Amino acid sequence: MIKVIINGAKGRMGSEAVNAVEQEAGLSLVAALTKNDDLTATIQDTGADVVVDLTIPTAVFDNAMAILNTGARPVIGTSGLQPQQIEELQAIAQQNQIGGVIAPNFSIGAVLMMKFAKEAARFYPDVEIIELHHDKKVDAPSGTALKTAQMIDAGFNERPKAKQETETLAGARGANHQDVHIHSIRLPGLVAHQEVLFGGLGETLSIRSDCINRSAFMPGICFSCKKVMALKELVYGLEHLLD
Ligand SMILES: NC(=O)c1ccc[n+]([C@@H]2O[C@H](COP(=O)([O-])OP(=O)(O)OC[C@H]3O[C@@H](n4cnc5c(N)ncnc54)[C@H](O)[C@@H]3O)[C@@H](O)[C@H]2O)c1
Repeated sequence: MIKVIINGAKGRMGSEAVNAVEQEAGLSLVAALTKNDDLTATIQDTGADVVVDLTIPTAVFDNAMAILNTGARPVIGTSGLQPQQIEELQAIAQQNQIGGVIAPNFSIGAVLMMKFAKEAARFYPDVEIIELHHDKKVDAPSGTALKTAQMIDAGFNERPKAKQETETLAGARGANHQDVHIHSIRLPGLVAHQEVLFGGLGETLSIRSDCINRSAFMPGICFSCKKVMALKELVYGLEHLLD
């Protein structure tokens, strides 16, 4: 049995993950932690193999450090980790030979959307991302949008051409990450959605993923808890576990 801690267990994602882990064969939930619990002490007391972090952007780096330094395997779903923080965590995991995953998105459909976008970028240098989330999401753009932009950037055969354009209202063209514009929508009624729009000569291509409720992320979380047991590095993106 793989012993799992859920950190952020009272949150929207964390409470779903508690149920999912409790019902998953091969996984055993040993603790469900909230903001004021001691993560390091709980890992030591329970001998947890894996910690799933579904907390907040300002806490995730310290949590990931605590998990790695206590010898458990991190399965990080929380958004907001900066590229240099990811590199720092990966170096520690490498040094200590600990497996783990940082997944901006645990939905299989969303991971495929990112892979297909990378493939399409070979043929279309003109692309923009629209990400749409519920109005309680605290950070923008989403981790998924940033990861998608990075994958598109790696897929380009030809760089996007610089455009002559002026914003008459600041922010009208969205954020620019690695030459890909990202537009963030926040509205009640939404859960987690993203459309990648490519434009070519006389045509457009849209690749879209819609998570209509949080159960969409649970198979990916349970799958990751099992897969990290055989890893000796911290990977960034669920696609590295699927391949
Ligand atoms: N990777 C994915 O597939 C995926 C999908 C959806 C959401 N997310 C991300 O997961 C995170 C959680 O989302 P949510 O909608 O559940 O948020 P939420 O606000 O509902 O829950 C976060 C919980 O974490 C708790 N918390 C805050 N600091 C903590 C700490 N230091 N230790 C333990 N608990 C702490 C809060 O009290 C809260 O209960 C967000 O960063 C969100 O962007 C990831």
